[in-house]
Amino acid sequence: MKLNYGIIGTGMMGCEHIRNLKKIPDVKIVAIADPDERSRKWAEDTCGDAFKLKLYEDYRELLTQEDIDVVVVASPNFTHIEIMRELFKTDKHVLLEKPMCTNLLDAMEVLEKSKEHKGVVWVGLEYRFMSPIQSLINHVNEIGNIKMLSIREHRFPFLEKVDNWNRFNEKTGGTLVEKCCHFFDLMNLMIPSKPIKIYASGDQDVNHLDERYDGKTPDIIDNSFVLIDYEDGERAMLDLCMFAEAGKYEQEIVLTGDRGKLETHIPGNELLLTNRKEYSHRTIEIKEDSRVKEVGFHHGASYIEHLELIECIKKGNQPLVDCQNGFDSIVLGLAAQESIKAGESIKLNDFLKI
Ligand SMILES: NC(=O)c1ccc[n+]([C@@H]2O[C@H](COP(=O)([O-])OP(=O)(O)OC[C@H]3O[C@@H](n4cnc5c(N)ncnc54)[C@H](O)[C@@H]3O)[C@@H](O)[C@H]2O)c1
Repeated sequence: MKLNYGIIGTGMMGCEHIRNLKKIPDVKIVAIADPDERSRKWAEDTCGDAFKLKLYEDYRELLTQEDIDVVVVASPNFTHIEIMRELFKTDKHVLLEKPMCTNLLDAMEVLEKSKEHKGVVWVGLEYRFMSPIQSLINHVNEIGNIKMLSIREHRFPFLEKVDNWNRFNEKTGGTLVEKCCHFFDLMNLMIPSKPIKIYASGDQDVNHLDERYDGKTPDIIDNSFVLIDYEDGERAMLDLCMFAEAGKYEQEIVLTGDRGKLETHIPGNELLLTNRKEYSHRTIEIKEDSRVKEVGFHHGASYIEHLELIECIKKGNQPLVDCQNGFDSIVLGLAAQESIKAGESIKLNDFLKI
């Protein structure tokens, strides 16, 4: 079965999806939609001779094209809700880029509608498919009961985007939603119980302060510590700094159990396993996923994401990353943003009562 794809939003991420899909047999990109002429040209150039594309300015026209089986939504975060409302009127399969939405009400609406949707709705939280993460998950049984998870991301500032949409909380949901939903998803994936309480401290101290867009200064935070308590006593911590480029690793992840500890890095090809009883540690080589044909900006994870989505569609399986995962990841991001504003911890049960 050949699947026909339509891509909505062909900026940086839309074009990364195109590069991935070009390398997958039995896939055809038949249309793209983007209001920006330059982005439509990027899509055409990225496709090259591989596909004959229909180009639309308005995504609603793309959605009326009957031969499209799968739609990739890679437009700015604040546009996801209106595009999903239209997509839910069709029965097309969807890969919706993270973060699912920029606020709680919209995320609840997408989650509810996804349960009735005929096609697969998959959320683009592809960090799960990175080799260091897969390797860590494969060895999780060797550290006993999980107690603590620490994720550090020290990286470069946000890149420039089409129309600079990523400079404002209103359009992104805030840094802890836009960027960090990936890490909250990993926490929810690795920690067996549910998050119950969150405290965050953060600010915009360095980045984008001298930029102006329509007279407005960007308001997105660039550093934060976030602490999360889980129901069975596990704890997670995020240490984010976005004025810390040029380090050896972008992400460092430590998962600690009562018998030992797992540590890894992204990018990285080593997993360190510590055994308390034996008072020893050993290094495990991380094997790259041999299926990866396009490494892209996400260490091959977006390519694996597409392979898994295609298998899910073809076999009629449940998505590996669904709207519940998308929702849970941004709830933590939104609650962390709220905690920074309020200067106090947030109980997630209360936060969800709106
Ligand atoms: N999964 C990941 O790791 C990852 C990485 C980067 C970006 N993203 C997500 O992908 C999405 C796009 O980010 P980006 O970095 O490509 O941004 P970008 O600014 O480079 O591209 C966005 C494109 O969407 C277009 N657009 C705006 N409104 C639109 C609409 N109504 N319909 C169709 N197109 C529209 C813009 O003109 C632009 O070409 C965001 O949701 C972002 O969070 C995900």
